[in-house]
Amino acid sequence: MSLDLSSELYYKKHNPFESVKRFFAEILVQLGWNENVENEVVMDVGCGPGRTTTEQILPLFLKLEKIYAIDILTDMIDIARKQNFHPKIEYCVANIEDWLTIKQWKEQMTKVISIHCFHWVKNKQLAFQNVFHLLKPGGEASFFFVLEAAFFTTVLKLKENPKWKSLFMGVDDCVPDSHHHKYDALHYKKMMESIGFEVLHCEKERKIDVFSSDEDIKNFFTSLCVLTPHVPMDRKEDFQNDLLEELLRHNGRDSNGLPYHDGKILELVVRKKN
Ligand SMILES: C[S@@+](CC[C@H](N)C(=O)[O-])C[C@H]1O[C@@H](n2cnc3c(N)ncnc32)[C@H](O)[C@@H]1O
Repeated sequence: MSLDLSSELYYKKHNPFESVKRFFAEILVQLGWNENVENEVVMDVGCGPGRTTTEQILPLFLKLEKIYAIDILTDMIDIARKQNFHPKIEYCVANIEDWLTIKQWKEQMTKVISIHCFHWVKNKQLAFQNVFHLLKPGGEASFFFVLEAAFFTTVLKLKENPKWKSLFMGVDDCVPDSHHHKYDALHYKKMMESIGFEVLHCEKERKIDVFSSDEDIKNFFTSLCVLTPHVPMDRKEDFQNDLLEELLRHNGRDSNGLPYHDGKILELVVRKKN
């Protein structure tokens, strides 16, 4: 597979974003996700090291039977099992784009949640269809993912930078179509309706996420940059500094001088009709 993220670095640097916390506390609560009329069986798609799973998803459901937390990367699942163990969470390696890896959960989920994952998914129509088949009739799914981002602009710039270009020949930059084509919320609303979902919430919004220092933003985005693993060890630091410089050029600083990341996010909540 082409997705090559630094699981260890991501785990060390990642704290759930304020924008993600607000999505849980405001949108999902408003839509009654914490009301729990029946025992919930939940899937977290693209769980990474499991912090969002334990800190945001787990406390949302009072009558929780089980969370299946899946990720395509074995390293992420290994870290999640060690660092974010919980008796009600089962972490598994699986790919939301590959039905064979998830078919054992057909029509078992009351809820599916995916945070900051679908921008990596190439065939979104197929992945959304797979989510449809994982849900019980009446089940709901929510997605929070990046459509356009200063980070993606940074990746594209570094890929074309004469200083680094030769290292990245033939490397998939994993920049999503939505960044190039600037898809609006209606694009996704229509896609979900064509699959058979009822759309409960669909909004494209600009989100600013502030980091505690330049070092923090640099390390976080280095862990997410699919170009990083192609840089030899002795040039890594130089590359990370160029990444920071490029990031700061396309982002900004808040009134306290702290660096922030600027992106457009899709918030999507859907229901599988009964
Ligand atoms: C940026 S991390 C987000 C992790 C976590 N949801 C969070 O909020 O911190 C995105 C995760 O999605 C996973 N991922 C990407 N494509 C995937 C796919 N097709 N199926 C399952 N997981 C995938 C990546 O391996 C990565 O761990």
